[in-house]
Amino acid sequence: MKILVVGGGGREHAICWKLKNEKDVEQIYCAPGNPGISKIANCIDIKEDEIDKLLNFVKMNKIDMTIVGPEVPLVMGIVDIFEKSGLKIFGPNKQCAQLEGSKSFSKEFMIRHNIPTAKYKEYIDLNKAMNEIDEFGYPVVIKADGLASGKGVVIAENKEQAQEALKEMMEDKKFGDAGLKIVVEEFLKGTETSILTFVDNHTITPMVSAKDHKKVNNYEIGLNTGGMGTFSPSEVYTKKLSEEIEEKILSKTLEGFKKDNLDFKGILFVGLMITDKGPKVLEYNVRFGDPETQSVLFRLDTDLNKIMSAIIDNNLKNIDINYKKEEVVCVMLTSGGYPEKYEKGKIITGLENLDKDIVVFHSGTKIIDNKLVTNGGRVIGITAKAETVEKAASKVYENIKKISFENMHYRTDIGI
Ligand code: AMP
Ligand code: GLY
Repeated sequence: MKILVVGGGGREHAICWKLKNEKDVEQIYCAPGNPGISKIANCIDIKEDEIDKLLNFVKMNKIDMTIVGPEVPLVMGIVDIFEKSGLKIFGPNKQCAQLEGSKSFSKEFMIRHNIPTAKYKEYIDLNKAMNEIDEFGYPVVIKADGLASGKGVVIAENKEQAQEALKEMMEDKKFGDAGLKIVVEEFLKGTETSILTFVDNHTITPMVSAKDHKKVNNYEIGLNTGGMGTFSPSEVYTKKLSEEIEEKILSKTLEGFKKDNLDFKGILFVGLMITDKGPKVLEYNVRFGDPETQSVLFRLDTDLNKIMSAIIDNNLKNIDINYKKEEVVCVMLTSGGYPEKYEKGKIITGLENLDKDIVVFHSGTKIIDNKLVTNGGRVIGITAKAETVEKAASKVYENIKKISFENMHYRTDIGI
């Protein structure tokens, strides 16, 4: 089977890495890929949102299956376009991708199907939002409706901050058209966690749990990032909690898809707050999480291409999905300054000295003059497995000592 993976970050590197050793996979292409991915797949110079070019490439090269990593092409409708041409593609269609592409769409879905979530209101009128902002008390959560690269959520501690955020989104268009409509939400207190699931029209199957670390510094201090590292399994995700989530959230979500005639096939990422009134949904994403995927696919034993093909055929219920007993840690090395301003082009050294069982997933790297350099906020994810999370973490941190680039930053408490 020839496979095209769309995307070029750590998540796509992990997907390619997993596919690489699967029996039915002959060749992997990745668009656009990155220097890490180029060691295991043919990287092609097409961006994730250049859907016509991707379509053309798939037709010309007789690709058997396309796997979409990031949300942007999904929200643009890549799946509908490929399916219209009779091509096999993994991911939800444009209508279903609204669950991530529009906060108001996903809130309406949750309310309609009695899926526990924070109380909310949506606004398209700045003055109305400004006048009503006190209703939820403080802190209050303000979200741009559309895609904003994970940056469109503000937790305002008081009225002044809230009004400032509303103005920035709705008047100054900080997130472009994504902020023309906004969602204002009650602030939920609790422990944050998430779960990745495989979904087709009949079945929703949770994967093993993974704990993400969103704040830039140790002990959950500092700004929110895309994720500074993960470990799997997550200690938060107990058997009791997982049963509660399956009953109150996952099965209701699947029922909701059926009732609304939403033909959801792909990955559903459910972001959760575990409150004293039980788990509530913070958000849905319609793709693998990054860096959750790096930990979860590291543990997946079953062939990913088989699971994905089964989902496309609505046959997920007949697939046995198995995971390694070993536990996994992935720590992100980031550019100093991220998630705000940071520099690129710093030479990365030491990767050749890592232990053989360490896997490096590239997120933001580039080759310049034959040297590997930084090319993003999140640069590389250092990943290892062991009998326990603690042992995996010590392997990872021992090896990080061998790596360096100017202004390298990482959290030292992941899995510790
Ligand atoms: P989202 O993209 O909707 O998941 O929001 C990004 C982050 O903001 C989440 O990971 C939470 O840490 C936080 N967040 C979002 N909604 C709420 C809420 N209603 N209450 C508390 N924190 C929230
Ligand atoms: N790590 C969070 C996300 O992928 O959205």
